[in-house]
Amino acid sequence: MSARQEDPMGGEVPPGQLPASPCQGWAGSTQSSIQDRNFTVQMQNTLQPLCLSLEKLQQVKVRMLEAIELGLSRRTHAQATVRMQPAFIRSTPDGTERGDFLVVELGDPDLRVLLVRLTGDEHQTVTPVKDQRFPVPKELTQGPGEKLFAFMARCLCEFLDGLGTVQKTFQLGFSFPFPCRQTQLDQSYLLGWTKNIQCSDVEGRDVAQLLQDAIQKQQDRYSIDVLAVVNDTVGTMMGCEPRAEPCEIGLVVDAGTNSCFMAEARHVELVEETGGRMAVVSEWGAFGDDGTLNDLLSDFDRLVDQESLNPGKQRFEKLISSLYLGEIVRHALVQLTKQGGLFNTHTSPSPALKQEALCTQDVLKITDEQGGLATAQRVLRDLGLEASDQDCFIVQQVCSAVCTRAAGLCAAGLAAILSYMCRSRELARLKTSVAVDGVMFRDQTKFSRTLQQRVKQLAPECEVTLVPAKDGGGRGVAMVTAVASRLAAQRQQIGRILAPLKLTLDDLRKVQALLRREMELGLRKETHATSSVRMLPTYVRATPDGSERGDFLALDLGGTNFRVLLVQVGSREQGGVQIVSEVYSIPPEVTQGPGSELFDHIVTCIVDFQSKQGMVGQTLPLGFTFSFPCQQMSLDQGILLSWTKGFSASDCVGKDVVQLLREAVQRKQHFTLDVVAIVNDTVGTMMSCGYDDPRCEVGLIVGTGTNACYMEELRHVGTVAGEEGRMCINMEWGAFGDNGCLDAVFTPFDRQVDEVSLNPGKQRFEKLISGMYLGEIVRRILLHLTDKGLLFRGRPSPKLQTPDIFQTKFLSAIESDGLALRQVCGILEELGLHVTCDDSLVVREVCQVVALRAAQLCGAGVAAVVEKIRENRGLKQLSVTVGVDGTLYKLHPHFAQNMQATVQQLAPRCSVTFLQSEDGSGKGAALIAAVACRVASHQRA
Ligand code: G6P
Ligand code: BGC
Ligand code: BGC
Repeated sequence: MSARQEDPMGGEVPPGQLPASPCQGWAGSTQSSIQDRNFTVQMQNTLQPLCLSLEKLQQVKVRMLEAIELGLSRRTHAQATVRMQPAFIRSTPDGTERGDFLVVELGDPDLRVLLVRLTGDEHQTVTPVKDQRFPVPKELTQGPGEKLFAFMARCLCEFLDGLGTVQKTFQLGFSFPFPCRQTQLDQSYLLGWTKNIQCSDVEGRDVAQLLQDAIQKQQDRYSIDVLAVVNDTVGTMMGCEPRAEPCEIGLVVDAGTNSCFMAEARHVELVEETGGRMAVVSEWGAFGDDGTLNDLLSDFDRLVDQESLNPGKQRFEKLISSLYLGEIVRHALVQLTKQGGLFNTHTSPSPALKQEALCTQDVLKITDEQGGLATAQRVLRDLGLEASDQDCFIVQQVCSAVCTRAAGLCAAGLAAILSYMCRSRELARLKTSVAVDGVMFRDQTKFSRTLQQRVKQLAPECEVTLVPAKDGGGRGVAMVTAVASRLAAQRQQIGRILAPLKLTLDDLRKVQALLRREMELGLRKETHATSSVRMLPTYVRATPDGSERGDFLALDLGGTNFRVLLVQVGSREQGGVQIVSEVYSIPPEVTQGPGSELFDHIVTCIVDFQSKQGMVGQTLPLGFTFSFPCQQMSLDQGILLSWTKGFSASDCVGKDVVQLLREAVQRKQHFTLDVVAIVNDTVGTMMSCGYDDPRCEVGLIVGTGTNACYMEELRHVGTVAGEEGRMCINMEWGAFGDNGCLDAVFTPFDRQVDEVSLNPGKQRFEKLISGMYLGEIVRRILLHLTDKGLLFRGRPSPKLQTPDIFQTKFLSAIESDGLALRQVCGILEELGLHVTCDDSLVVREVCQVVALRAAQLCGAGVAAVVEKIRENRGLKQLSVTVGVDGTLYKLHPHFAQNMQATVQQLAPRCSVTFLQSEDGSGKGAALIAAVACRVASHQRA
């Protein structure tokens, strides 16, 4: 203790003298009635530990500040005593909240139920329609939690019955004044009971859910949605009447004590918000649980703690709140009695001073300025204590010291919060209201006065007005519930908008069956023209067997990159296939310009590649991966049926692509090419994977575009002569649905994307699945949500008007596992979209829905293919490998998994392995070229 004591007003009392009032507390009697000098010293010794100097309170403030920072930091939060729990409230009320809301406040000894009407008008009138208290039976506060919650639900029903209304549906806010870990407005997990409640089976559980379950068990009499759980401090802050300066702090000193305030979200590391503010509940009651306050605890505090329901816990609370003040006073009186002189005759404490005999209400009455000694005497008499004037005076001093200390400590805590807010907002001065509630503030102007005086001394940079809560936290809880209700309505609206993009298993089965039908039609000569799926023969009759040899040139056109490759195929012992390649960009003006320029460009790239590889003058056989639909009559001839994806070069459709390439070669002098095979990328991928896994009989691409090929029985291929053996069929499934058969699946967003594409009405299945379109679907949905006021606060975002801003890599990044919300915000910021955390959650959800649908549709397609292979071969069970390539498949964190899950559900009799191609389809094109060369040399021989 400091040798000199100061009163809250700053005056000092010389050591060794009994102060006129210890710590210059509230009681106003004089010293003249003290007769016994010895007892005076004893009394001083008793009171001294309860008197905290300004200097000491300064130290408490500094320690509280440190504790606040530990609680806010993600790294130290778990060990922190002051846990700084985020409350998921981002702004104080703006006065527009409206509607009728039920509020339940769990207190001890009463449970309070209210119906509050928010008018949402200019002055935000708040009318408590009805307000009822239900005493909580003592046995429920320490029994099974289920019973306590059942009691709450029963009281609610009784309250509503009493309303006599026909209304059966209500939205409810739950004021739950205990330390919780909140994860969203309506999800709050109890960390541990405090004060006088200790029910079993509640700690660690979501109290909103417990209340909701209990309500449901009330035979469905009312339909009540628990929309928000709030700490009482938050209810107090949010209920503060609108005034000139904002009210950004809530303070409760009741049975327990606690505070909350609006912190800068970027400092609340437990949540991922970066912008704006977030209400944080300090749970400062536990300050000191690590021993930080040990140097200022008195023997009485230690006794009170030991006898409490939670020894060692809530040390700060036990110095301040009403549940404990009476007990601290009682222990001090017991000690003074034992020392003789108090209550005259007794040196053993009167039985009237038994545990909990004195409550805080008594303490407050005893210190009442107006009542003087007479009131003290009456209170003591009611307790069964005959007190002389001197006794009364002494008791007053003790009570006063205990209350003054409580107010001083509370002020130190509040000053810490104020200074923290001032500092973190980089302000020189802070002006704010503090909404206060609890028995210590009700009619106790002295507690408020001392508190305010101390705060002024401890945080001189802050100007504070204490605003007593009008009707408890009820009004504030109703405000929070109103906000929650608005958010819930928005969620529902978003849910309705996204619903058509969510496919059931049944929907997917239909898609699978439709594709199967289209496949049959496409294979048969007579019906071929009516099918949207072209089922093109490729003239590839077998997958690689490892005997392929030689050096080949390969071209790979149609995906994200154009590549030229040198592929050297040796024996497996020699290392198998070696590849050297070069990537070339093809600018959009070339992919969408005159066809001759596109092919000239390709030839220029080949010449460049050859000169880089020192191959000038060499003419190697060439395999050409050309990822567009081609009608083939042989391996080295392919008539382009249509461009897809981002290509639309003129004068190519209807022409043999190999011929177009040859003509470009001719335009270039002193240069020859030997094109032996033209190959779709799916086929190249299947061959490339087939080189490593002989069971690979399906090729799948999910990249810029999408498509599949598989080994079909030649007898089923009506468009090619011959019955024996198999042939690889390029399905061109991207066009599935171009005949209208998939119309039920398309949403307005898909139609919009199709309409502005290079090929409206074409490649409808591809436009639901592949990387080139998913980002655009997402963008269209986001535009719609913004239009409806559900995103970006309804303000148009010019950046969102930019076509193609969401590329595959964006979709993949935003859905990455473990990506913190602040990273999602970061990605969106990089795209120039200024988002709140709520916005970024919505954006992520939209991405998820769109990508999931794509994966499932693709899975339905694969299921149709593998089931056909199984049936073709009359097998009960088929084991098959699918070779896969494409940026969406490779980069997206969930696409592969979601697609595979669908295949498993839709084709349970096929065991399908997915093998990711490592070298692209250029390698496959070279392998096909190798077979072609071998066949040709056999024929020559
Ligand atoms: C492989 C092939 C390309 C093919 C691509 C699809 O890499 O070599 O010919 O088009 O996959 O992927 P992308 O995502 O680039 O369209
Ligand atoms: C609880 C707080 C509550 C305070 C005041 C404390 O015991 O831990 O959550 O706000 O009492 O009711
Ligand atoms: C093309 C296919 C190709 C697929 C994947 C589609 O647009 O029509 O031939 O296999 O994209 O690249």
